[in-house]
Amino acid sequence: MTNDTIGSVLHETRTFHPPQAFVDHARITPDRLTSLREEADRDPEGFWGRLAQEEIDWHKPFPQVLDSSRAPRYTWFEGGELNVSVNCLDRHLARRGQKTAIIAEGEKGDVRVFTYASLHREVCRLANGLRKLGARKGDRIILLMPNVPEAVIAMQACARIGALHSVVFGGFSAESLKSRIEDANARFVITADGGHRGGKIIELKSFVDKALSTGCKSVRNVVVLKRTDHGIAMDDKRDVWWHDLVANVKDTCDPAWVDAEHPLFLLYTSGSTGRPKGIVHASGGYLLGALLTSKWVFDLQASDVFWCTADVGWITGHSYVAYGPLAAGATILMYEGAPTEPHGGRFWEICEKHGVTIFYTAPTAIRALMRLGDDIPAKYDLSKLRLLGSVGEPINPEAWMWYHRVIGGARCPIVDTWWQTETGSIMMSPIPGAVVTKPGSCTFPLPGIDADVVDEEGERIQSPEEGGYLVIKRPWPSMARTIYGDDARYQETYWNKFNNRYYVAGDSAHRDAEGYFWILGRNDDVIKVSGHRLGSMEIESALCAHPNIAEAAVVGRPDALTGEAVVAFVVPKGARPEGDAATKLTIELRAWVTEQIGALARPAEIRYGDNLPKTRSGKIMRRLLRSLAAGEVIAQDTSTLENASILAQLAA
Ligand code: WTA
Repeated sequence: MTNDTIGSVLHETRTFHPPQAFVDHARITPDRLTSLREEADRDPEGFWGRLAQEEIDWHKPFPQVLDSSRAPRYTWFEGGELNVSVNCLDRHLARRGQKTAIIAEGEKGDVRVFTYASLHREVCRLANGLRKLGARKGDRIILLMPNVPEAVIAMQACARIGALHSVVFGGFSAESLKSRIEDANARFVITADGGHRGGKIIELKSFVDKALSTGCKSVRNVVVLKRTDHGIAMDDKRDVWWHDLVANVKDTCDPAWVDAEHPLFLLYTSGSTGRPKGIVHASGGYLLGALLTSKWVFDLQASDVFWCTADVGWITGHSYVAYGPLAAGATILMYEGAPTEPHGGRFWEICEKHGVTIFYTAPTAIRALMRLGDDIPAKYDLSKLRLLGSVGEPINPEAWMWYHRVIGGARCPIVDTWWQTETGSIMMSPIPGAVVTKPGSCTFPLPGIDADVVDEEGERIQSPEEGGYLVIKRPWPSMARTIYGDDARYQETYWNKFNNRYYVAGDSAHRDAEGYFWILGRNDDVIKVSGHRLGSMEIESALCAHPNIAEAAVVGRPDALTGEAVVAFVVPKGARPEGDAATKLTIELRAWVTEQIGALARPAEIRYGDNLPKTRSGKIMRRLLRSLAAGEVIAQDTSTLENASILAQLAA
């Protein structure tokens, strides 16, 4: 089955064939994959049109598939009407109403189960409650929630009334929350009194209070879920308990029918410049992408229990917790807490306890659990697992092999899925029953996705040794439509580089001699820490906002556990601190960044200089800083540098 070289030197030429037992029952067999690819290549629009018709329940059929007349503003299925929550819930009621939709395990071990029928009722009740508060189609609603089913219920309830949710990850600071609320001009916030994480209570409601105390004038009401019940302040005029809001409402709710292009949600993500951008996804195309990839990549079958460990605050939690698998009528698992709380076997214990069959997580989590040793997973029965997935950052072959051998018992295919907040759904991944995998490669684009690696001129790179820009050459249904309130920035960021011909992902990649894609990392100033996406400029602005800081530059350096780590080069006002003074300032700055953005952006290392390396025109040379951060000898030509002597100081 595999040319099994486990234990020998890891290199990238090993291949793993889909196990026959998997192929025998796979949704997509090799033949089926070939025919899907052929169909998509022959007639891309016809392909997506057929799938949209078959997979989605339309209230009103779409008159056209794709409109390219305002490229790069593409629209899909425009004129068709649907409701996403109807597609995720109502359509299962007749045949699968009593099927389990969500198994939810709290960090403290509390378990709750929702069937499709009960989930539908809860969604309808909240949707009615939101309408009672005056929420309408098109309103923006911010969600700051623990990773509990109510987060999904809130997202689905927004979709039901045509309101746009914008989920903010619970690890961000009040400051970050505020800037997102203000950018979205949100009328409502849905949150919880708290969530459980790492044995502590995350004070979500108090973050909201803090954000709202200094701005966010657009917010009318805050809906508060009682989760931790540890006693919080409620503002009588503004705050309403979730359970009170839904106490006397019907458990059915007429859905708002929306155009396929009606935005389903905004999700803020970091880019290379400026503030986080609110990526906008459209109802019809996004739903199609999330649903199809759930079926194709995760091979979802009636008896599966699918656990995507991502928090709902990230795109992965949107597409593979809240929407895709539910649209497919699957059973999902949600876990509220930290992977090692209260012990290092928690993930595997949950897999055993709930019979998880498909497990999808990030390389950082795999590496962290791998470090704890093989004995821990060995204590649990993982025999129900049949498919494993990885997302968010490149997976190193060593972690891939451990995942394969120790967690997958050498019997589960691994799908290494490449995609982005902007792509809405998985773009490149093995189809588990049809594609031969190589550790560390996301293999090939999915049917209908025209990905390529091009050079500075936009020409395909032929040499398998050479890296280039990862681009997508044809539009696809789940692509982002715009950046909320800033379409010019959308076009500039993703389309202008190659004159609007290709979508530019911001990653570099190469293709090997067999055409397999290998992601090399970002080619902009985005840093991926534990799979979380951070903008260098955001962290720099935060540092520069500190009263003692004159200038700062932030780069990523490779880290064996978190993939990348944040390194900040800082020029203080006044004398450069040394010894204890430097230690003290470092502690202060790390706390400052936590306060301004969130703990995930906290620099792992801060170095102080009298200046930063700059070109004669005053541009900071990040390339050099990256080498310095990685501890590399500077081999580059530094002759264009204004102040080359600064390198020695910063290298220390
Ligand atoms: C990176 C996460 C290598 C990549 C879904 C991309 C990956 C960014 C992979 C998007 C993968 C995601 N292999 N790198 N399988 N998946 N990335 O928006 O740099 O949080 O551009 O979406 O993560 O991050 P985002």
